[in-house]
Order: sequence, then structure tokens, then C-alpha cells
Amino acid sequence: MTVRTTIADLLRAKHEQRIIVAVSCYDYTTAHLVSQAGVDMILVGDSAAQLVLGFDSTLPADMNLMVALTAAVRRGAPDVYLVGDMPFLSYHISVGEAIRNAGRFLVEAGAQMVKIEATAAHLETIRAVSDAGIAVMAHIGIRPQRIGTVGRFRAEATIADMAMELIELAEQMVRAGAGMLLLEGVAEEVARIITERVGVVVISCGSGPGCDGQILVAPDILGLPADKPPKFAKAYADLGARSAEAFAKYAEEVRSRKFPDDEHSYHMKDGEVQRLEELLGSRRRANQ
Ligand code: KIV
Repeated sequence: MTVRTTIADLLRAKHEQRIIVAVSCYDYTTAHLVSQAGVDMILVGDSAAQLVLGFDSTLPADMNLMVALTAAVRRGAPDVYLVGDMPFLSYHISVGEAIRNAGRFLVEAGAQMVKIEATAAHLETIRAVSDAGIAVMAHIGIRPQRIGTVGRFRAEATIADMAMELIELAEQMVRAGAGMLLLEGVAEEVARIITERVGVVVISCGSGPGCDGQILVAPDILGLPADKPPKFAKAYADLGARSAEAFAKYAEEVRSRKFPDDEHSYHMKDGEVQRLEELLGSRRRANQ
């Protein structure tokens, strides 16, 4: 029997300088495969709004969707450290609502931590959620839920003044109670400095090799996305092309009546076809 990974295991990995492997995924089947691969942590990201539902931003993801997906991933990966992503407007309206929504990920979906895309305005929320006993990952750097205020995304902390601001923000997050940081699209020099300065685990999403762990979204790893992935994503397979080939082959076999064959069909028990014909015959005669 394997044992579920905890935050203590991940912190130990940081201290022992063992790199943490994380994947963002959204469904039972993928979670099972990710877990079989020995990945340490799964985030059920609100990128599901784009990669599962086909929206052009993460904003349309809502609590019910995120809780349902997180629960599905937990069923597929019972022992992996699981983080649920708090969607747009689930933690912005009031601290009370943030705690209630964060709690749903733990109680209804079996998550161990929630992720919040955080600015300095969310420090009070991070403190309150973590004081309620809910572990929080603060996501800083590029924050996709802020697309409406920034217009487009670019690498963060590429100049010294902005790097100083980000380092200070990271430290404030940890002081407010964040149990983990996720740095997205941050200059690698700055990500390395933050990782060395804070006592919590720091995960890089496109922020270079100097962090305690790395995360990519599963569809990018598998080479599946319909749209162009970000610069920092790396595909380890070409399942998009292979999947399209498989669907085309299926369509061809259905159209040529090659599928389904005998191997993929059920049959009546011995003698039952003849009995059925007799029953149909007597009904026909009775109706004449
Ligand atoms: O939503 C998501 O999948 C994420 C990862 C890209 C880190 O936030």
C-alpha cells in the first residue's frame, strides 16, 4: 500500500534538494496515469477553462466545475499531493466566501491545498484561509486571471525594480501564511533568489530550473493542445497528431463497416436466436 504524499514530504524534499515534480491535469484517466508515473503533486488548474472547455481565458471556470474536476482527479490519484485552483471571483468578494470556497476543495474533493492567484490585496485572504486550517499556495508572477487588467502576458521581474517588488511580494505571502509559492513566467534569476530566501516549497511554471519543483499542464506535456502552447512548455509526446490519426482510422473503419467486428460484439446464448424467431413468428400469426 502506498501512502499519500503530504506537505511535510514536500518540505523535506526542498530541504534535501530533491526536485518536486508536479502536473496540472483535470480528469480521472489522466490523473491515474500521472500517479502511475510517480509524480509528487497534481494541481487541478483553472486552465481547464481553456484546455477542457475551449474558452480563451481561465475566467469562465467556476467553483462547481473546479470542485467536480478536483474530485475526479483525486479518484484517479488517491496518493498524490493534490491542489485545487480557486477560480476567478471565488476569493475576491469577501474573506468569508474565500474560506467557504477553499473548504469545498478539501471537504468535497479531497484536495490538500488550494491555489490563489495573489496580489498584495489578497494578503488578508491568504491569512484567513490558512488560519482556517486550509493550506494555501500563492500564485505570483504571471496571473492569468488578471488578463482583463494587463491585456497580455509577458515575462515577469525582468528588470531589477520589478524583481525587488516580486521578491517582497513573495516574502509577504509567506508571512501571511502561504504554505507554498507558484511562480509563473518569472525571470529565472529572480525565481532562484525567491526559492533560496523563503522557507516554503517554490514551484516553477516557466520560471527556470532554480526552484524546488516544476509544473506543466498535462495537455502540453502530451503534445495535445489545439492552440499554441506558451514558450516555457515542452511536449514529451505527440499525442495530438496520434489521436487525430486514431479518430480518422476509427471513422474509416465505421464507414467501411469493418468496425464493429465479431470480437467487439455481443451474441445471444446458444439456441436463443431460434427461440426468438419462433416467438416473433407466433406474434405475427396472432396479429394476422
Ligand atoms: O491553471 C493552471 O493549470 C495553472 C498552471 C499553469 C500552474 O495555474
